[in-house]
Amino acid sequence: MNNDSLFRPFALKSLNIKNRIVMAPMTRSFSPDGVPTADVAAYYRKRAEGEVGLILSEGTVIDRPSSSNDGNIPHFYGEQALAGWQQVIKGVHTAGGSMGPQIWHMGVMANHHSGWLPPVPFEGPSGLNHPGFNNGKTMTDADIANTIAAFGRAAADAKRLGFDCVEIHGAHGYLIDQFFWEGTNERTDVYGGKTLPERTRFAVEVIKEVRKQVGEDFALIIRLSQFKPAAYDYKQAKTPQELEAWLNPLAEAGIDIFHCSQRRFWEPEFDGSDLNFAGWAKKLSGKATITVGSVGLSGDFFGSFAGESSEPSSLDELVRRMDRGDFDLVAVGRPILADPSWVQKIRDGRNDELRTFTKEALGELVMQ
Ligand SMILES: Cc1cc2nc3c(=O)[nH]c(=O)nc-3n(C[C@H](O)[C@H](O)[C@H](O)COP(=O)(O)O)c2cc1C
Repeated sequence: MNNDSLFRPFALKSLNIKNRIVMAPMTRSFSPDGVPTADVAAYYRKRAEGEVGLILSEGTVIDRPSSSNDGNIPHFYGEQALAGWQQVIKGVHTAGGSMGPQIWHMGVMANHHSGWLPPVPFEGPSGLNHPGFNNGKTMTDADIANTIAAFGRAAADAKRLGFDCVEIHGAHGYLIDQFFWEGTNERTDVYGGKTLPERTRFAVEVIKEVRKQVGEDFALIIRLSQFKPAAYDYKQAKTPQELEAWLNPLAEAGIDIFHCSQRRFWEPEFDGSDLNFAGWAKKLSGKATITVGSVGLSGDFFGSFAGESSEPSSLDELVRRMDRGDFDLVAVGRPILADPSWVQKIRDGRNDELRTFTKEALGELVMQ
């Protein structure tokens, strides 16, 4: 099957990208004291030179004292860190690429294995990382207001530095997702509630603030997942109706693109249809969507964290769904982490040159 549909341009507001392939956000922990180095800039520039359409940065944390559990994860605040990001976007643009930072607050976390700790306790809707595991404080109204403002400042800085869009990290059990999940949100104020639409209130306020800061014409993405790292098979929305009730307030608040995180893109989201998460999100919200999850690889990313290798695999099923109009963009993680030329190899049919993904790639900034 030919891959032409992956190589059509895509435009939406501030985004003007040459193909449909997005580099998925991947934490690298190569930014000492939160400052992205020249190597980090070179790593992203290489992916732009390799013709990735849109690069989403690794999660980069907002200006809250306990937004991170790892001292080597980049900040998206402070003069030095923002100067580092300025070099990143300069390099990506020089190479003809487009990029947005993934802005992130981790919420309540487990302590990092390195022993590094933020200066104040972790914070979240109810102090919980997952049910039964309290490792932080319950946010006050002032904490919530200051966090919303910090998301807004990060987005404003992204635009000021020249990034092409911004992605809010609302997935994978971190702060925004801790508000969505009844297992971690036990609040009885306006940020809690029995229903998912009630628990979207925090995300809605973040999105509105971000939108206010960047204006109407700047593309705004949110990443969502049904699963939680503490509950891999969990479905936040159990029916299409619940999914619609989750997404619509986010869309109305100002989201342009839903980035629908799945472990394996081919898995149907609900019984009775083969549509995946991104397929349903597009159908129900009318917004553009990004699919992701084991594109071009035999094994999923949880397996990689456990040390498993993954072999290159066919893109035919992906292209079939793309041609059917299920989603607009395709995020690719590990293949692009491990090989800056993955997009060109796919485009040119150089399948024999595709690499096996091994755990060694997780430990370095692969440049060649
Ligand atoms: C090393 C690594 C770091 C990751 N860090 C992030 C992150 O910072 N933010 C995020 O939303 N997802 C993160 N993910 C998930 C990826 O964005 C992606 O959804 C996942 O790897 C599935 O895509 P793949 O099968 O193409 O690798 C990470 C994945 C990997 C392998």
